[in-house]
Formats: sequence, structure tokens, C-alpha cells
Amino acid sequence: MNLEELKFILRRIYREYVKKHIKRILIALILSIIVAASTSGIAWLLDPAVKKIFIEQDKVFAWSIPVLIVIAFSSKGLSLYLARINIIRVGEEVAGALKKKIANNILTSDIQTLENRHSGKYISNIMYDAHQVQNLVSTGVLNLMKDSFSVIALVSLMFYQNWKLALFAILMMPLAGVLAKSLGKRIGKATSKAGISSGNLASFLTEIFKGSKMIRIYQKEYEESQKANQVIDDLVEKNIKIGSVIIRATPIMEALTGFMIAGFIVFSGQLIAAGELGVNNFFSFLAAMMLAYQPIRSLATINMAAYQGATAFKRISKIIDKEIKIKEQTNAPKLILKNTNIKFNNVGFKYESTDEKAINNINFEIKGNTMTAFVGHSGAGKSTIINLLPRFYDPQEGHIEIDNQNIVNISLNSLRKNLSLVSQDVILFDDTIKNNIAYAKSDASDDDIVNACKFAAADEFIKKLPNGYNTMIGENGVRLSGGQKQRISIARAVLKESPIILLDEATSSLDSDSEEKVQNAINNLTKNRTTLVIAHRLSTIHNADKIFVMRNGKVVNSGNHDFLINNCDEYKSLYKKQIK
Ligand SMILES: Nc1ncnc2c1ncn2[C@@H]1O[C@H](COP(=O)(O)OP(=O)(O)O)[C@@H](O)[C@H]1O
Ligand SMILES: [Mg+2]
Repeated sequence: MNLEELKFILRRIYREYVKKHIKRILIALILSIIVAASTSGIAWLLDPAVKKIFIEQDKVFAWSIPVLIVIAFSSKGLSLYLARINIIRVGEEVAGALKKKIANNILTSDIQTLENRHSGKYISNIMYDAHQVQNLVSTGVLNLMKDSFSVIALVSLMFYQNWKLALFAILMMPLAGVLAKSLGKRIGKATSKAGISSGNLASFLTEIFKGSKMIRIYQKEYEESQKANQVIDDLVEKNIKIGSVIIRATPIMEALTGFMIAGFIVFSGQLIAAGELGVNNFFSFLAAMMLAYQPIRSLATINMAAYQGATAFKRISKIIDKEIKIKEQTNAPKLILKNTNIKFNNVGFKYESTDEKAINNINFEIKGNTMTAFVGHSGAGKSTIINLLPRFYDPQEGHIEIDNQNIVNISLNSLRKNLSLVSQDVILFDDTIKNNIAYAKSDASDDDIVNACKFAAADEFIKKLPNGYNTMIGENGVRLSGGQKQRISIARAVLKESPIILLDEATSSLDSDSEEKVQNAINNLTKNRTTLVIAHRLSTIHNADKIFVMRNGKVVNSGNHDFLINNCDEYKSLYKKQIK
């Protein structure tokens, strides 16, 4: 990152995140001035202390100067404490604002964009980056203010005590500056590499966590632990690198200081001998110089924090700035349903991560209040068709209409409100059964929920759970079987009462016992609704008003069961496989 870009990013961080906390920063600025004044006051006090107490042995100064020293130290400590309190709040709030943006981004991003990110890595990287930005706006900003004021005050005091000696000391400073700059760049590089490694570790751990059963059955514990060692070693190396680059400054700085002090003693010896420098001035000067050492060092590394924070912000902004294509348009008209006819016109769609189209030149019309089934081998494009209706993706070619309204032109909320989706993989939240079902309709009454569950053949097993409808499920609760999960998912759809129902292998994990119940539930659910169903089950297919047979992203035939069994070889073979 070059200086221009750094400035640009810092300005943006200031404008969008820091500016609203400017009051607190100004308070910290004033407190920083007090810190600087107290620090140089301490150094200055050594001048009268040596002169009046040690040399002249004045009685009044003998107690008043120690009192002043206590006051100076206390005011430094207190101001620093208050400044830090303010700045900690600014840093945390900025990081909080970034994290809120990120969370919101996950909730609104295009599905495709999210699918192209590895969730474990993504979350870990982004939290790491938010922390770097926080470090920049808290520690970075405070140190910049406090240390530069301190350096200014202390250097002024040095000039006040003896300008020749001060010039000599200052000649040494640029050396430290050059050193810190090259260091800053190297650290910036090392940290971003470490960020990637720690993301790799997070995603690896998530994977072995999720895959624990698979790892055991294929006895891959050894291989996976080798892999773990590799990923962790990699991170260890990178962190050691950062650590050692940071402390590399110390020996060089120490040696430089040694040279400086040696030269300083020689030079001040000559000045004292020539009568140009009093012993009292010398001590005060020495104190100022030693007190300036830490802030100078800290200032020298401040560009490091700036580069680190800016690089992290750049990665975050790449995510939060990415344009969201599928979103609610403010002036879009609402979907108006009459017959709920659905029409696909020359629809073609390709996933970003693949080269081949998932579906190609799809044309069909579905009459409202009928059941349409899609059959075909896996990968034929059935789920893709279903996912285009709620606009999880938008097709690159052609368009989709509901009652002659192109779905990209109508309000996204009004479109999705009219759709229910029950799919193979059921997502349950870490909450009670009741709340998981009420997710479909937040104002549903308890009766509504129980009725929906009865409808979906779920009531029976829910009642048997330890706390009935208030049983916790998900991560921290009861584990449900695949079939039970699917019945909960169907209950959600029942509760939503939408006119269009999408079923993507909704009955795939049911055992034959519950299948019949659920099949009845589905028949109830889909009665007098427009239903698109991807089915393995023969019963569903028999019930369908129309069946589309798909192969390689195309519809190869359509009709009802009786027609297809006599006229479509593909269908016949799919059907025969089912019977077996
Ligand atoms: N999220 C995705 N990202 C990339 N490719 C996908 C994605 N989902 C499906 N595909 C690909 O698109 C094609 C159609 O898949 P899909 O519609 O899921 O088929 P079906 O539901 O008929 O089994 C397949 O080649 C599949 O690999
Ligand atoms: Mg599928």
C-alpha cells in the first residue's frame, strides 16, 4: 500500500467511523496536552531541585519542589487514565460499528456472493481485521497525540536548558525514524500473512469439528492431525515472524541510545568545563531526554499501526462495499396475484463458480393452483429452477413471470412473502421448537403453531419432548432426527400460508412410517396452492398435474405420469429405478 492509498483509507475511516466521536477525541487531545505538560514539568523541576536544594540548600524549596513533583506525576497519571478511558470507548465503538456492518452484510448480500466465501475463514479474518482497525483508532490515535505533544514539550525544554546540546541530541533522531519506517512495512506484510493463516486454522477446525464422524469412520485422525499440525505450525511461524520483526527494533534502538548517551556525556563535559552549562541544567536536560525516549520510540512505530489498520480496513471494505444486486427497490410495485400462473421465458443461468450453465433455455408455463413436479438425475438443474423463483439468484438470460409480472421488477419483499420453501437441508435455530416454527409468522398464536404442527404430523413427537413446544433445539438443545426436522420445516411452511409452495426433496429424509403422515400433510399443505415440487417419491409424482423431465439443465419432456410413462424413455427409466 502506498502513502496515497494510506491517506485515502485513513480519511475514509475518519469520515465514516471516527468523526462522530470527535468530542471524545478532543477531550483526549486536551488531556494529552496535560500529560505532555506534566511530563516536561517533571523534567524541568529537576533544574531548581538541583540548584536550590542540593547546591544552595534552600529550606523552602526543600519541601515545595517534592510536593510539585508529586503533583506533576499525579496529574500525568490521572490525565492519561482519563484520556485512555475516552479513547477505549472510541475504539470499541468503531470496531462495533464495523462488526454491525459486517453482520448486516451477511444478512443482505447476494446468496451467490456468500456461497463464494468460506464461512469459517471469512468470519475469523473479518474479526481479526476489525480488531486491527480498532487498534489503529484507539492506541494509534492516543499515542500519536500524547507522544507528539510530549516530544514537543520535552524537546523545547531541552532547547531551553542548552540549545547546543539539544541540537546534538536531535541529530540522532532521524536515524530512528528511518529504521522504524522500514520496520513498519515489513510488519504490515507479516501481519496480513498471519491473518490469512489464522483464517485457515479457523476453517480447518470448523471442518474437523463438523466432520468428526466421517473422520472416525474413515480413520483419518492421523492425517487430519498432521494437517492440523501443519496449519498451526504455519501460524506459529508467521506469528514468530511478526514478534521478531517488532522486537528487532529494540537492540538497534538500545545500541543507538548507547552511542547517543556516550557522545552526549563527552559533549556536555566539554560544555560544563567551558562554563556554558550548569549542573542543574544538565540534570534537567538529561531527564527531558530520557523521558522523550519512550514517546519517540512509540511515534516511530505509529506508521506501523496505521499501515496495519488501513490494510485491515481495506479487506473489510472489499466485503462491505461489494454491490448487492438482488435487493429491495424502494419504488418497485408489489406483486399482485390473480391466478398465480408462473412462466419461465428462455431462462438460462450459470453459477459464478462454474463454467457450464446449470440450466439452459428453460421455457414453461405453470397454471396456478396446480402441482408441478420436476424429475431428473441429480445435477440436472431441478433445485436451480426452484431457487430462481425467490430470487436467490437472478438468471443471466431470459426472465421469470408470475401473473405476467417480471419478478425482477416487483418488490422483493412482496415476492418472497408469497413463497414458502421446504428443502432437503433444514435449518433450525438455537431456540425453542415454538420459536423455530413461529419464525415463519412472528404473530402466530400458540394455537396456530399447534395446528400447523398437527397438519405437518409433527405435533405427536413434539408433545413427547421433555418440555414440549418449549424444548430447546439446535446447537445447545435436543437433537432431532432428519425426519423430525423436516416435519418442523413443513410446519413452518404451513404456518406461512403462502400461495406458492416450493418443495425441494422435502420428504427425502423421512422413514416410511412418517412418510405417509407427511405425505398427507403435504397434500393438505399444497391443496389449492401453486406448488413446484422436486420429488423422489412416486406418490408425489402420481399426484402432480404436470411433470417436467430434466436432463443437463434442459427440459426434455413434459406431461402427466400416464403420458410420460408411454412416451419418454428417460422418465420410464427414472420411474423404474424408483420402483426397485
Ligand atoms: N451453489 C452452487 N454453486 C455452483 N454450482 C452449483 C451450485 N448449485 C448447483 N450447482 C451446479 O449446478 C448444476 C445443477 O444443480 P442442481 O440444480 O442442484 O441440480 P439438481 O437439483 O437437479 O440435482 C449442477 O451441475 C451443480 O453442480
Ligand atoms: Mg437438488
